[in-house]
Amino acid sequence: MIISTRKMFEHAYGKYAVGGYNINNAEQLMGLFKGCMDGKAPFIIQISKGARSYTDKRILEAMIRAADQMWPDSLFAVHLDHGDEATCMDCIESGFYSSVMIDASAEPFEKNIEITKRVVKAAHAKGITVEAELGKLGGVEEHVSVAEADAKLTDPRQVKEFVEKSGCDSLACAIGTSHGAYKFTGSQGLHFEVILQIQKLAPGFPLVMHGSSSVPQDEVQRINAAGGKLKGAKGVDEAQISKAAKMGVTKVNIDTDGRLVWCRVHREHFRDNPENFDLRPPGKVFMAEYAKYIVHKNQVLGSAGQLDAARKFARS
Ligand code: 13P
Repeated sequence: MIISTRKMFEHAYGKYAVGGYNINNAEQLMGLFKGCMDGKAPFIIQISKGARSYTDKRILEAMIRAADQMWPDSLFAVHLDHGDEATCMDCIESGFYSSVMIDASAEPFEKNIEITKRVVKAAHAKGITVEAELGKLGGVEEHVSVAEADAKLTDPRQVKEFVEKSGCDSLACAIGTSHGAYKFTGSQGLHFEVILQIQKLAPGFPLVMHGSSSVPQDEVQRINAAGGKLKGAKGVDEAQISKAAKMGVTKVNIDTDGRLVWCRVHREHFRDNPENFDLRPPGKVFMAEYAKYIVHKNQVLGSAGQLDAARKFARS
């Protein structure tokens, strides 16, 4: 069942975080639904601008509707990830999305507010909520590429003004993570002091953590053992993610980890079965392995086991 992102955040705030998982194709979607149902977790399906052109937005929408019928007990929201203004407006008009993200974080403060405000106005008129971004995450995420030197942590003192003036419903904050598989070179991690300050200045306001893949080292090693060349790939420590989930971070975005599972499964499959050219055998393994990954990640986030309570809350 598709529910509003707002209800999801209200239920999760301070207790757990909902996984925002990016999907691009049917295998990812099936693995995601299976994993969330196996672990009884509510979840958010994230669709990026790139995914909307790779698989075509109409196919993605049709697949999600079909999955909703296949798993009638599921509870999820559909979210546009890293939208520009035009893509946000397209998603709002479609009426299919629970929420959109307007990413104007590359703009100066006032311009970011101005753009976000326009999207909020259109979205709220249709009952859709809006995630905005303040601060600048490093790393590469499809069309968004920010050099580490240009990355900037969110300034907690700006949060209240930004939220009030823009009217956004949740806020993606730069708190030390970055997009992609190469987040840290040493023992760096989340800036909990920034999260705490933001929570103090904007109590109860849902925060979103992008760039939250943990880049499991066994995946990286297996990929490299099967011919990959991922040197120095490193992600966010899972214990830190669990801690943030109790501090007002209600949505945790994960894309890279899913790609790593895909890459490992396919590299190993074709290494071990060089005579095969059929996409279905590795596809089947991928769906099962991705579902397993999702079960584990939802335990880390604390969303595992929350399905029934979240459904009851959504209906209240
Ligand atoms: P990762 O690259 O860490 O998976 O982050 C994805 C993300 O933040 C999508 O918005």
